[in-house]
Amino acid sequence: MEIKNVCVIGAGVMGSGIAQIIAINGYSVNLVDLSEELLKNVKEKIELNIDRHYVARNKFSSEEANKILDNIHYKTSIDECVNDVQLVIEAIYEDMNLKQVLFEKLDSICEKEVILASNTSSLSITDIASKCKNKDRIVGIHFFNPATVMKLIELIEGDHTSSHTLEIAKEFSKSLKKTVVTIKDSPGFITSRLIYVLCNEAINMKMEGIASTEDIDTACKLAFNFPMGPLELSDLVGLDIYSNIGDYLTDEFGEKYKPSFLLKKKVGDHQLGRKTRKGFYDY
Ligand code: NAI
Repeated sequence: MEIKNVCVIGAGVMGSGIAQIIAINGYSVNLVDLSEELLKNVKEKIELNIDRHYVARNKFSSEEANKILDNIHYKTSIDECVNDVQLVIEAIYEDMNLKQVLFEKLDSICEKEVILASNTSSLSITDIASKCKNKDRIVGIHFFNPATVMKLIELIEGDHTSSHTLEIAKEFSKSLKKTVVTIKDSPGFITSRLIYVLCNEAINMKMEGIASTEDIDTACKLAFNFPMGPLELSDLVGLDIYSNIGDYLTDEFGEKYKPSFLLKKKVGDHQLGRKTRKGFYDY
């Protein structure tokens, strides 16, 4: 099956980046979110991003950029957007219940051949698919932030994902010039499970007052050759995302994954990192 048209559901941090990288690689994308107003802002941000990072740096001409931007169609109705697509990528909130409800709907309205993928950063693909009839077409395609820049995609094979689905998802991911690793369904996969532990421990250190935010980040950058410190990274990913991952890993694996009290407090105070302009740093 050849993928030509893709639908991305959720136009937040990840969905807007995923739509861009898909459009850059010549596919047509329907980008769906809940309101026209939100989509208007997202469209402006995407135009600015393409201009700053590609046109200003001579990676694309203005004509090429316009073609890429024309490949992205902004919509509020899911039903309208899944006709004539071969792949749907879900990038809504990291909430099992919301994802299950959405996948159940997608499974009922999409043609049987359409592949349904989740960009979840930690939740079980098998559980996300649990209310669907055609579970074999459901797979995890986990992009990294920013999706236009980061080279890795983790492909998640749910208990019922068919080898056909996995192969199409792999070929599609490679066509975006990404490197693909495949993992059997397991909470947090490879990357989220590891990075959550590191960031949560850094947040505990910050709470204990043993070093400043800047020094914790500087220590990790210089000692481990990380491009970004764990507190900076937490702000980029979103503290709500790490808090949810921590709760989920605690439920699945036990107390050693419990989110830091400070992480929970910041989420409670709506300091979610870059997206609210306040987290461990101010933006
Ligand atoms: P976000 O909060 O920035 O965006 C979520 C978007 O989904 C919002 O714009 C919201 O209005 C929209 N939405 C919610 N329900 C919807 C529905 N039923 N229909 C259409 N749109 C709906 O979240 P973010 O950070 O983009 O995360 C999205 C997913 O990607 C989550 O599953 C997250 O775990 C995963 N992820 C996040 C990464 C990150 O660095 N933030 C990295 C990799 C994966």
